[in-house]
Amino acid sequence: MGIKVPTSCRKQGKCKECLVEVAEGMEFLSPRTPEEAHLGRNFRLSCRCKITSDIGVIRCHTMRRGEMRIERHAFELPTRTKQWQLEPCVIRDGDRILLDGVEIARSTAPIHGLAMDLGTTTVVVRLLNLETGEVIADASFENPQRFGGSDVMARIHFDTHDRSKLLQRTLVGYLTHVIEEFPVDPQTIYELVIAGNSTMRDIFFRLNVHSIGQSPYRSITELEMEEGKRTTTSLSEAAAKLGLPIHPKARVYGLPIVSGHVGADAAACMLAIDLANEGRTVAVMDIGTNTELVLGNKNKMFAASCPAGPAFEGGAISCGMPGLPGAIEKIKILDNDAVNVTVIGDTPAEGICGSGLVDLLSELLRINRMDTLGRFESGDDRFQLGVKSDSPIYFTEGDINELAQAKGANVAGLRVIFHDYGISFDELDTFYLAGGFGRHLNIESSKRIGLIPNIPDEKIVQIGNASIEGACIALLSRAKRNELEAIARTVKHCRLEAHERFFDFFVEGCQFKPVNTSFETQNA
Ligand code: FES
Repeated sequence: MGIKVPTSCRKQGKCKECLVEVAEGMEFLSPRTPEEAHLGRNFRLSCRCKITSDIGVIRCHTMRRGEMRIERHAFELPTRTKQWQLEPCVIRDGDRILLDGVEIARSTAPIHGLAMDLGTTTVVVRLLNLETGEVIADASFENPQRFGGSDVMARIHFDTHDRSKLLQRTLVGYLTHVIEEFPVDPQTIYELVIAGNSTMRDIFFRLNVHSIGQSPYRSITELEMEEGKRTTTSLSEAAAKLGLPIHPKARVYGLPIVSGHVGADAAACMLAIDLANEGRTVAVMDIGTNTELVLGNKNKMFAASCPAGPAFEGGAISCGMPGLPGAIEKIKILDNDAVNVTVIGDTPAEGICGSGLVDLLSELLRINRMDTLGRFESGDDRFQLGVKSDSPIYFTEGDINELAQAKGANVAGLRVIFHDYGISFDELDTFYLAGGFGRHLNIESSKRIGLIPNIPDEKIVQIGNASIEGACIALLSRAKRNELEAIARTVKHCRLEAHERFFDFFVEGCQFKPVNTSFETQNA
């Protein structure tokens, strides 16, 4: 079928990298083999299954669909973030390669490091020269762990019941291919710095993630720190132990997590926006299946996480889809009810991705087709987008309800953290929207439906992938890494589930109307 399928075991059923998701035609495939017992309904190992029918249609794709729009870069970060010394933990002394001052190799070749933003949905990797700080190459791919579920809770469940560490091994398999395609000898890579949410990070380090899935939602590193067994939530491990093909004595360093589901990706964002030296009051919001929020300045920092679910990534929406070619990413409804859309890639529309869904809600509200409670005014049960596509693309009240709940969780997180911090949205100096979704959002639409606070546009900065930027800074600067270790301990975690006003904030946040900015804080 012309699909390039990853493999490391030469089709022995061992590496599990040849995993494919079957979108159609499962009935035309041979029965599952024992090697596939752990896989969900729509997943098969392509080396273990055969086509058993002469007639029929089978549609499938690998976990590396390759074309997903992944945010690889950061934008408009404060200029202060450039002002640090190049001072990596790995340095050269003649032909001696030193890690924290200890010789780990002898070589005259250039020395390299990797920075990785390990997301639940996507992974971004950068290769850097540790002597110059220059980015030599980068790569991105969909996280192949999707067979273990699309959100962190499903992955925790999968990993807890799978002793073979399949999630970790699959990801390492994909990462190995990426590293081998980089234009340097993998043996010249001496450190890998990882930013990622708490679950992704801990799975990568082969830690038990069970406790992150249970109230009070804490990583085992946090629990061990409380018990005095460790002094930091950051992680260090030898590359060889994790199965990576870089120098065996290379260190894999996981940035510290902030608390609970506010993970090492949020910590990396704090580094990227230089929160440790920020005098103004700023907020960072990374909207995703688990939205992470940090608010504060160098003197006082609060954090929260909101389990928003997959709706804004297109999950659980009738015609929703991720940011792949064919996804409608912008929508405008004209006076004559015609719909103007922008589609990712040069291809017919197949569905609507997150930024398109925000636009659609906003437009339906603007032309009074939908009320603030998310009901169609006409009494219809669906809104049909009259766009060119193979099958009809529509939007239902059920979809609106899913998005309302996801939005409610995000708004509740915002309300709780500002309430506890004791300021109103008006008092914020800058609101950073991090992540791929935040980068492509239409600000006007987002404010109209109340996804973000209704503050002046000039205070809102869409910074893209700040997490990978933070991981690079930590790779290149020991001082910044230490600074992050220190501030991560001082952040106060606001626990949504325990907050007395969470339910009120959530119900209010489910409505499609601007989030007013000057709400009372006297109960703080
Ligand atoms: S190719 Fe390795 S499991 Fe299929």
